[in-house]
Amino acid sequence: MASESTAQRRRLVVGNWKMYGSRQENTFLLADILAGWEPLAEVDVAICPSFIYLPQVAEALQGSAIAWGGQSLNPDDSGAFTGEVSGPMLADVNSRYVIVGHNERRRLRAETDQFVALQFVAAQRAGLIPILCVGESAEDRAAGNALAFITAQISAVINLAGIDAVARAVLAYEPIWAVGTGKTATPEQAAEVHAHIRQLFGERGEQLTIVYGGSVKANNAAQLFALADIDGALLGGASLNAEEFLAICRHANTAG
Ligand code: 13P
Repeated sequence: MASESTAQRRRLVVGNWKMYGSRQENTFLLADILAGWEPLAEVDVAICPSFIYLPQVAEALQGSAIAWGGQSLNPDDSGAFTGEVSGPMLADVNSRYVIVGHNERRRLRAETDQFVALQFVAAQRAGLIPILCVGESAEDRAAGNALAFITAQISAVINLAGIDAVARAVLAYEPIWAVGTGKTATPEQAAEVHAHIRQLFGERGEQLTIVYGGSVKANNAAQLFALADIDGALLGGASLNAEEFLAICRHANTAG
């Protein structure tokens, strides 16, 4: 039963370019990715560049199998919000996804669980698929609070959006201590959290796409993707290298 249901979920690999890139670097990176692309029957792939480069990425990827999306959004659809970007604006450049609740924004921009919930709802209102990031700090893990911390982050969104809406989105488990550090969660640690997240959704959990993020590279991706509850990856550094990115997409296609 579980394996049948797993087969219904497609895998997903998303490159989060964070605040990296330039028009010229992006041109080369996108060209290399497209040149090395092979059709992947089991995987959806997307790239989330800085807002300013979304039209460039959209133009390059138009007609390819690779989608694109934003790294954040404002909860309002429009208004006097200097420096902000809305869900309808992301949709206007044909974005498919938007990342919400990334730990870098939770920490650097003091985004709270409640704010992230508003962003999540705004994303779906605009027809985007939110990629909801959750994950604990090293201190929370050491104190044995990892699962409780993650549950609270997800519950805040479920309380506002409803459990069905969250089950239609993408969850990304990104332990803070593994992001950009070279320390990947062990397969056991990741598997425990992914299984926990899935069971929060009861029956709906079987349809929920849950990806892992945090120092995923071509040389550790296959091991992570082999686990039943890991449906793909949210990549930082590895998405800035065409070879790494393509290799990870291929691992996702052949896993399981
Ligand atoms: P790294 O892959 O560089 O650790 O970043 C992960 C991440 O934060 C993706 O959103």
